[in-house]
Amino acid sequence: MTRPLPAPADIEAALAAAWKVGKARCADGKVAAYIPELARVDPSLFGLAIHTVDGQSYSHGDAQHPFTLQSASKVFSLSAVVAASGEKVFDHMSVEPSGDAFFSIVKLEEEKGQPRNPYINAGAILTSSHLQGATADAKIDRFRTFLGQSSGLGAGAFPVNEDVFRSEADTGHRNRALAEIMRHHGTIPDVEVAVETYFRQCATSCTAESLARLSLYLVNNGRDPLTGKRVLAPASNHGIVALMATSGMYDEVGSHAIEVGLPSKSSVSGAVLAIAPGRMAIAGFGPALGQKGNSIGAMKALGVLAARLELSVYR
Ligand code: DON
Repeated sequence: MTRPLPAPADIEAALAAAWKVGKARCADGKVAAYIPELARVDPSLFGLAIHTVDGQSYSHGDAQHPFTLQSASKVFSLSAVVAASGEKVFDHMSVEPSGDAFFSIVKLEEEKGQPRNPYINAGAILTSSHLQGATADAKIDRFRTFLGQSSGLGAGAFPVNEDVFRSEADTGHRNRALAEIMRHHGTIPDVEVAVETYFRQCATSCTAESLARLSLYLVNNGRDPLTGKRVLAPASNHGIVALMATSGMYDEVGSHAIEVGLPSKSSVSGAVLAIAPGRMAIAGFGPALGQKGNSIGAMKALGVLAARLELSVYR
């Protein structure tokens, strides 16, 4: 069933209302501090951006403020890998929710180096190792070229923030441990290349505006509706979006499904990207995080938008 887009005036009004609710909640959260450079970000920043399949765009608040993709990058590294080499990356990774924190090592150890899904850190590090190229630099070039081409914005719209990269490279010992376990089991060939690629993709910058624009192919069956470029085969796109619904919000995925009802992907930098299939991509950015490491303002704002614009996929 195709669902019509809401009228532009209704989208504008819902966006303004959602922003107000989300902004008020920012005071209840805390910025991520385990990556020292992220601790310097202003917790009161809050922006929302929407891009619709018919080429309209809407934004409110700090929608042009740059932030690093962090875990939101996982959707796009997976897309780039699947677009280039098909579903091979799933030979050593399952598609089930983990029920654990995104950085957890427990199931990876129990399940012999095979990550539960591509949106926990272990799965994303494995995915990074599958990006084309022999070195981390080559893989990151591929990743940023993919972002630039899929969005029509060019790779220059997605620069790597070297300070954030360095900060995580200096402190990301647990991610190295995940990679070492996978190396032990033969799941990845090279720890340093995989981890450096992963840290650099996480440190790649965007804005709520550019993130929503980039995500239009996910909304539209794998084809960017504005450039006409096919990014992913429809079946691959379906899987990548479905995984957002089951594993995109870590162990808050159940309450997010109930309160918002849209496949989504969060990041510790404060992004929550939500996909309303066939209709629109919504990016929220609010670096103040709740208990589970997801943006408290963006989740609330998405709840308001989904209710007012009747976007839930479960309705
Ligand atoms: O690996 C990390 O810990 C970060 N680079 C990304 C984690 C993240 O964004 C989890 N999101 N909620």
